[in-house]
Amino acid sequence: HRNGIDFAVADLSLAEAGRHQIRLAEHEMPGLMAVRREFAAAQPLRGARVAGSLHMTIQTAVLIETLVALGAEVRWVSCNIFSTQDDAAAAVVVGPTGTVAQPSGIPVFAWKGESLEDYWWCTMRLFDFGDGQGPNMIVDDGGDVTMLVHLGAEFEAAGAVPPPADDDHPEYRLMLQTLRASMDADGKRFTRIAAQLRGVSEETTIGVTRLAKLAREGRLLFPAINVNDSVTKSKFDNKYGIRHSLADGLNRATDVMIGGKLAVVCGYGDVGKGAVEALRGQGARVVVTEVDPICALQAAMEGLQVVRLDDVAATGDIFITTTGGTDIITVEQLARMKHNAIVGNVGHFDDEIDMAGLGRVPGIVKVEIKPQVHEWRFPDGHSIIVLSEGRLFNLGNATGHPSFVMSNSFTNQAIAQIELFTRPEMYERRVHMLPKHLDEKVARLHLDALGVQLTTLTKKQADYLGVDVEGPYKPDHYRY
Ligand code: NAI
Repeated sequence: HRNGIDFAVADLSLAEAGRHQIRLAEHEMPGLMAVRREFAAAQPLRGARVAGSLHMTIQTAVLIETLVALGAEVRWVSCNIFSTQDDAAAAVVVGPTGTVAQPSGIPVFAWKGESLEDYWWCTMRLFDFGDGQGPNMIVDDGGDVTMLVHLGAEFEAAGAVPPPADDDHPEYRLMLQTLRASMDADGKRFTRIAAQLRGVSEETTIGVTRLAKLAREGRLLFPAINVNDSVTKSKFDNKYGIRHSLADGLNRATDVMIGGKLAVVCGYGDVGKGAVEALRGQGARVVVTEVDPICALQAAMEGLQVVRLDDVAATGDIFITTTGGTDIITVEQLARMKHNAIVGNVGHFDDEIDMAGLGRVPGIVKVEIKPQVHEWRFPDGHSIIVLSEGRLFNLGNATGHPSFVMSNSFTNQAIAQIELFTRPEMYERRVHMLPKHLDEKVARLHLDALGVQLTTLTKKQADYLGVDVEGPYKPDHYRY
């Protein structure tokens, strides 16, 4: 606590460095800044208590301060143990007008290199807005907060305590442990939190997958907006964001020459497409693996060889997983890789690469080259290099996507928060998308900065196409 603000960050004195970067980022985030101007007077988020769990980076700082500028009370954590930028976290706590001695920003609980125990401890801090108040809105990235509230409320409804799960997924085990420790005497804490929630806006593919499953099973307790599938999110952040931050992560981690190497990209969805572009741009020979015939055909038409991982495990130099799935690279495949092959994941969770299996190989030695870069030396003397312990290395080894592309994603987030909070009657308990006119608006807000001269339809042309001069220009099923 300092000046009435509770927080847990690495070092508050980094705030000034963070603030300088936030200032530069604001200039690169025209969509978010336009939202601030548009809604400054109306204060649509007054009364909103937003619990945010999303990589605590410089770009996220601009989102947080936008939500505050619209009237929200906010508490924030990171959704990944390695993704926090400590200077950004410090700057958000200190706030634009505060000082290290007298911070006046918002409570942040995040630092780079949390343990999993820290992670869930931080996440639990989201639920305490003081005076017994919980949040009434969630910004989620990957769905951990949403999942925590749902599991908590479900255990309470069943009058049960979460079991001491002995499955070998430490993340889930620790989530259950956290739940067990944080249920209150009357066993209704999460039920009360869920009842107050007007909704969640979800940032990423895997979080949307988890929400869709909750909805399908009739378990969804509050409405959700799928931000990921706004065109101006997944077709930009997932693709062009990765194109930038994947190369950044590889370079900062290893500084290895990418040109000429055989790079294997697992998954050719939006993230995979961006990963391939980055690697090809550096002159790598890129091959991909896919399970979906449509994506496999797309890759082939782009001139990429589509292979099975088993067939390239021993010859690839760089392996990148982008699937959002599980068990993509097995420990047997890791063991067969070339000496000093580089292995990294940019899918949301860390189970794409069998890190648990790797740790159990008899006689294996793990050498820290530097934080988030590890050499795993097999008993036969050969090694592989694993980035960020198998977690999102574009955030763990670098600083994630750049501001301009995140402005698109976060303008969708800000609009989704306004929609869910101010028009609850419009959003029944299911997973919604933002309407296309808002998606087009987000894109429009980013054109001037790039000098785009948009053509305007004439009335005759619009009638001919059967659209309004002002848009929307495409039907919802159009795929871009
Ligand atoms: P997507 O669904 O567009 O692409 C994933 C692709 O992987 C699909 O085409 C799927 O068919 C393929 N796939 C699934 N299982 C496979 C397997 N066993 N072998 C080969 N291919 C397989 O999803 P998107 O948007 O590309 O996201 C992928 C992951 O990246 C998600 O977990 C998402 O949350 C995460 N993400 C990470 C970001 C970052 O900054 N690191 C940014 C945005 C998303």
